[in-house]
Amino acid sequence: MHHFVYKDNDLFCEDLSVAYIAEQIGTPFYLYSYSTIKRHFQVFNNAFNGLEHLTCFSLKSNSNLAILRLLALEGGGADIVSGGELFRALRAGITPNKIIYSGVGKTPSDMELALKSDILMFNVESDQELQTLNGVAKDIRGKAMIAIRINPDVEPKTHPYIVTGFSENKFGIGIKDSLKTYKLAKRLKNIDIKGISCHIGSQLTEIGPFVEALRKLKGLLRELKGMGLDIKFLNFGGGLGITYNDESPPHPFEYARALKDIIGEDRLTLILEPGRVIIGNAGILVTRVLYTKSTATKRFIIVDAGMNDLIRPTLYDSFHAVQPVKMTNSKMLTATIAGPICETGDFLAKDRKMPAFKPGDLVAIMSAGAYGFSMSSNYNSRPRPAEVMVKGKLFSIIRQRETYDDLISGEEIPKFLG
Ligand code: LLP
Repeated sequence: MHHFVYKDNDLFCEDLSVAYIAEQIGTPFYLYSYSTIKRHFQVFNNAFNGLEHLTCFSLKSNSNLAILRLLALEGGGADIVSGGELFRALRAGITPNKIIYSGVGKTPSDMELALKSDILMFNVESDQELQTLNGVAKDIRGKAMIAIRINPDVEPKTHPYIVTGFSENKFGIGIKDSLKTYKLAKRLKNIDIKGISCHIGSQLTEIGPFVEALRKLKGLLRELKGMGLDIKFLNFGGGLGITYNDESPPHPFEYARALKDIIGEDRLTLILEPGRVIIGNAGILVTRVLYTKSTATKRFIIVDAGMNDLIRPTLYDSFHAVQPVKMTNSKMLTATIAGPICETGDFLAKDRKMPAFKPGDLVAIMSAGAYGFSMSSNYNSRPRPAEVMVKGKLFSIIRQRETYDDLISGEEIPKFLG
């Protein structure tokens, strides 16, 4: 459930018409609904009630400060993968001891910053990383709390680019090999072993792969306890899918029940790192039609947002529903919505049935809240779009549209070029 609905023929975000916002600030822009984000977080988080747990929003899906502040106020933590994401999480007021640091390529300086900020834990992905972290912790006379990220080798049934828990992926350590890593961690003086972690992939629409992975982790947990390790945290990552088109992913409640059933009596704190399920359907991209054109075989609707603003269709061939902001035209036709970028792959919707959009019409690209703005770029020297949050009848620009000066910020022409 989200708060993007039609009132008469106008698309609204909560109590504001999307067309009204477009008139005020221009296009393209990302638009987020406060109430949807809040509700999604609460539904997800409350689904785990009855079990000690911590919901750490995955910043890579969307790291706008206003969104992070909203989630911080709801008691959310953060799943981060870089010093930059740590900076954002802290700036937004997320409590350091609710921050988890994942990723295969943490640099020593980012580790140091995270240790000095007193984050809760690192998810360590290799022996070398573990040794490096131990060294950094020693240098600053501290201890690093860690979980080892396990690659449980399950088939998550999602797009190959976003599978992570298969043995051929770069992520985590296989269950067998992890025993050696845990032994190594036990010997290292500045490492404090706290948990097991795992993330098998994103946009999962079936419960089976989650269940299979968690069962494998439970087996490992028993072995680790046998080694005398006091494992307190089980981090199960993110990955719960959403409906973009006709998918029917498990409801967070069903997902939570399945996890609770397997965890059973084990006295563990469960950590979750949801991204998409919180923010995906809480945001849309609003764009305006510039031109329409037809070739001998195809009809194109050229809009003012492109693959630099939303790269998912280009990169993963992902489906985003297309909706008119004003339902004025009942004629439907098959067309491709393409952006202004000089690449054939620059499309937001390909060969789809849609209203016969005309120049000047506003188009909503749905389900764009996750991995939308956060993966945007300045390709073709296009300033990135504004981001707006609506709460009831209020709207606020939570990121200004970039300017041409922003585009060149940090660039310098060297003296020898005059
Ligand atoms: N935790 C870890 C360790 C992750 O790698 C990810 C996502 C998450 C949590 C959050 O997963 P979520 O709940 O959002 O599925 N750019 C792609 C998705 C890449 C996901 C990468 N990792 C897309 O646009 O579909």
